[in-house]
Amino acid sequence: MKKNLTKISDLDKQEISKIIKQAFLYKKEKDQGKEHADILKKKTIAMIFEKASLRTKVAMETAAYQLGGHAVYLTSSQILASGNNQQGRESIPDIAHNLERFCELITARVYHHETIKILSESSNKPVINLLCDQHHPTQTLADLMVIYWHKQSFENLKVCFIGDANNVSQDLMQGCSIMGIDFSIATPESYPVPNNVITEALNHASKSGAKVEVTTSPEIAIKNADFVYTDTFISMGEEDQYQAKIKEFADYQINSEILKHAKNDVKFMHCLPAHRGEEVTDEVMDSKHSIIFDQAECRLHIMKSLLHYYFG
Ligand code: CP
Ligand code: NVA
Repeated sequence: MKKNLTKISDLDKQEISKIIKQAFLYKKEKDQGKEHADILKKKTIAMIFEKASLRTKVAMETAAYQLGGHAVYLTSSQILASGNNQQGRESIPDIAHNLERFCELITARVYHHETIKILSESSNKPVINLLCDQHHPTQTLADLMVIYWHKQSFENLKVCFIGDANNVSQDLMQGCSIMGIDFSIATPESYPVPNNVITEALNHASKSGAKVEVTTSPEIAIKNADFVYTDTFISMGEEDQYQAKIKEFADYQINSEILKHAKNDVKFMHCLPAHRGEEVTDEVMDSKHSIIFDQAECRLHIMKSLLHYYFG
């Protein structure tokens, strides 16, 4: 049966653990300079991108290549012929029905989660969400991997997110609560975490034993945190909200001052791209706390592990 990855909670704790474990095996092989098995031999992956990308595109394309397969990069101007609306060159179901005849897997970065839903409902091949307005599951898997890399465990940990309740933080919230990691998020009062997202996280947490905290206070959220995470205040597609959001989020910057409220050895995370001087200072980005490039590296190991999950 095909399994889509439309959001992190499409996976349970066991599946996430399995994917992370396999990702560490791929990391080990790469660190030792070993070639990986050709599990993707002669297989093609479609990568639809309605939005810009550095890490996700390069990680997925490199993962496919290093596992013996091939990834085809499709921009919205090539197939949808429109960025932020769906009046494109052809319908999303028609795109899915074509791609399922050529490719083994369809991956997509889109504006609206609805597009991912339509793609996955229309295609008989699995669909992986490479970011939409609500979710970024492959990022969350890499985030969990880098947490494990630095702590060798998911036990007794607290992750704190300060900033916007967006695609990255909402899937991170679910991912941590599925894995049993305490999670605290601080957002401005005018940009709250949606209630359904909190309810879902609390449901996962009731099974895993994690604590979930939602606050407007960065000082409360960061207290005793092992990891502090932020992302841009203005996500792709929200550029017209720049002036309003930058004002509202002024007190939510990660800087040396706020880090003093965390544990002494707190690690700083960011999915990147970072907007230095906005959500985070240079001082923190380049500090001994920062694990942002380990985090970025995990994107590659996780993409390979996901391909392994489908084709290994
Ligand atoms: N973190 C992340 O998804 O980066 P890109 O937007 O560059 O792919
Ligand atoms: N929240 C950001 C993440 C970029 C990887 C965005 O959607 O633009």
